Amino acid sequence: MSTALLANRALQERLDSARKLTDYVFSLLKADALYSRPIPERHRLVFYLGHLEAFDWNLIARKTLDVPSFHPTFDQLFEFGIDPPVGQAASDEPSDWPAVDEIRSYNRRVRAVVDELIEQAPDDIIHVAVEHRLMHGETLAYLLHNLPYQQKASGAMPVAYSPHGAIVAAMIEIAPGLATLGQKRGAFGWDNEFAEHQVDVPGFRVGKHKVTNGQYLDFVRAGGAPPHFWTERKTQQSTRWFYRGMFSEVLLPVNAPVYVTHAEASAYAHWAGKTLPTEAQFHRAAYGTPENLERPYPWGHAEPSSKRGNFDFHQWDPVDVDAHPAGDSATGVSQLVGNGWEWTATKFGPFAGFQPMPCYPGYSQPFFDEEHYVLKGGSPVTAACMLRRSFRNWFRPNYPYVYASFRLVEE
Ligand SMILES: [Fe+2]
Repeated sequence: MSTALLANRALQERLDSARKLTDYVFSLLKADALYSRPIPERHRLVFYLGHLEAFDWNLIARKTLDVPSFHPTFDQLFEFGIDPPVGQAASDEPSDWPAVDEIRSYNRRVRAVVDELIEQAPDDIIHVAVEHRLMHGETLAYLLHNLPYQQKASGAMPVAYSPHGAIVAAMIEIAPGLATLGQKRGAFGWDNEFAEHQVDVPGFRVGKHKVTNGQYLDFVRAGGAPPHFWTERKTQQSTRWFYRGMFSEVLLPVNAPVYVTHAEASAYAHWAGKTLPTEAQFHRAAYGTPENLERPYPWGHAEPSSKRGNFDFHQWDPVDVDAHPAGDSATGVSQLVGNGWEWTATKFGPFAGFQPMPCYPGYSQPFFDEEHYVLKGGSPVTAACMLRRSFRNWFRPNYPYVYASFRLVEE
């Protein structure tokens, strides 16, 4: 088989496996849940059912290969998601959306045509389609997280938290040095990952672990805001906090990372007399070595695998912050990828040399508004391909729904 054919087959396999993943996440919804809006600032779930296919159609067939549309209304209706400021919810009704059967039949036809066209499209376009779908695998997971338990069928994968002593908040010294941010020209990346450049970072100290629920609980007891993922249950004798997991509520796992907003993470850091890492400091902590060489992953050059961390859809919920020591960085910093994105102190903006992607000009640029912060790393439901060093995520500072953790820095 020729190299081109092999490469093509590999891309088709990646697309098929990404489709399996998003189909699986949709399969966890009970019938009445599809028209729900679990997060007020996002579309109803039914939008995403059409969006994944409409995106592939618009990108591959319509814009890249100039294929005439068979359903222009759906191509447009399902083209874009929304990101209004927190509190400004959309006002559409379930009846404003098409019937599920109609969407599923559109989806089947899109898949069939896309599969026929895949050989004609440039590889980068297919990479965009695959990563876009995998990102939505994560988006769908946190949307589902916010549905009432009775609206979803259990996808199992419960986490067993082992009772052990509270994890100590140790700090690790990071020597001054260079951090390479961004992606090399020629390699696949989204527009905001370019251009690659180096930043000189002075020495600092960084938390060995992500901040835990137990540590954050002290802050809540001192008057800090409780996170969105927690529920308080009061009895006559006591007040206890629970973590609202994907499929069940559990007594607060004190050694798991706390999932918070950027505002909550910043307030905690201020209370603790520390700061959040900048994007460049995160890179130094994650990818730097004492020899001042850089690595593609915190643990080295090996491709991501489940022994290195909690990512790639092996668990729905976080594990303890000291799990997976095989994923530690060269200087012993834990869980820099997986088990929760990490908020940085850096506002999301373009690197020098930024050019919007012609096939998807709205991917990053509308968010260069000083209203979004960079997150690095990855969550339990971030696909392995997006754990590459240059990948950047971003959210509004008070958006509480994402699997976003943080660690502390002192200069
Ligand atoms: Fe999308």
